[in-house]
Amino acid sequence: MVTYLDADVAPLKNTGQIRLYGPDAFEGMRRACRLTSDCLDELAARVKPGVTTEEIDRFILEYGMDHGALPATLNYRGYTKASCTSINHVVCHGIPDAKPLREGDIVNVDVTYIVDGWHGDSSRMYPVGQIKRAAERLLEVTHECLMRGVAAVKPGARTGAIGAAIQAYAEGQRCSVVRDFCGHGVGRLFHDAPNILHYGSANEGVEMRPGMIFTIEPMINLGRPHVKVLSDGWTAVTRDRSLSAQYEHTVGVTETGSEVFTLSANGLDRPGLPN
Ligand code: MF3
Ligand code: CO
Ligand code: CO
Repeated sequence: MVTYLDADVAPLKNTGQIRLYGPDAFEGMRRACRLTSDCLDELAARVKPGVTTEEIDRFILEYGMDHGALPATLNYRGYTKASCTSINHVVCHGIPDAKPLREGDIVNVDVTYIVDGWHGDSSRMYPVGQIKRAAERLLEVTHECLMRGVAAVKPGARTGAIGAAIQAYAEGQRCSVVRDFCGHGVGRLFHDAPNILHYGSANEGVEMRPGMIFTIEPMINLGRPHVKVLSDGWTAVTRDRSLSAQYEHTVGVTETGSEVFTLSANGLDRPGLPN
């Protein structure tokens, strides 16, 4: 049995119960998520051939500190970076390092800032210089998957409707949906109930109610869906080494539908792609 509870009176740990947040929380989330999306906007001009993911990560750390925010990933379960940077066949949780980006790479940058205790979690894909048409198509498909998932968010529907919309579109485009990672409740906590699957059917999952806040973050592959985690304990890659992409938004359920907290203020939700 799933239970919902007032976020103001709930203990600050993931008990599997679903927090329902009020107007003050939505205001806090708007501010945290705006900082995250502003940072991702800043990256559009900074991600280019020759730049290292460590340099990008340093910018993200400093941008946060300059704006009174800490990255949630710092010291999270032993992770020591301000962001995740996942290149080409890396599905997610790539660790920033000293290797320069190369023309033709596609890289996901995933940032979560904590502002006044609120977590703003978002990621986008960045083309590095000119990329191949197949890569560009994967980015287009993956962003469309995210937005179709968002469009399925409304009170009364189940969270499975999000996954069903994503899977139908991805597979219709001859792409596959990664099963091993999912979206998650977010707010006072970084990773909270419920899990948001990016596949499945509309009658699965929990009923969405106004005040719920969660991420949608589909990982879509050009090849098969299977992944493995490298010996660093974090980096997840496609088993068949096919290209993988991901975009992520933090979303709140409203009385009538949803509010997307991490939309770009500058129209840069799909950097490097035609609008
Ligand atoms: N930001 C990721 C997410 O979307 C989580 C990264 S956890 C880390 O949920 F430890 F790998 F950084
Ligand atoms: Co997330
Ligand atoms: Co994220």
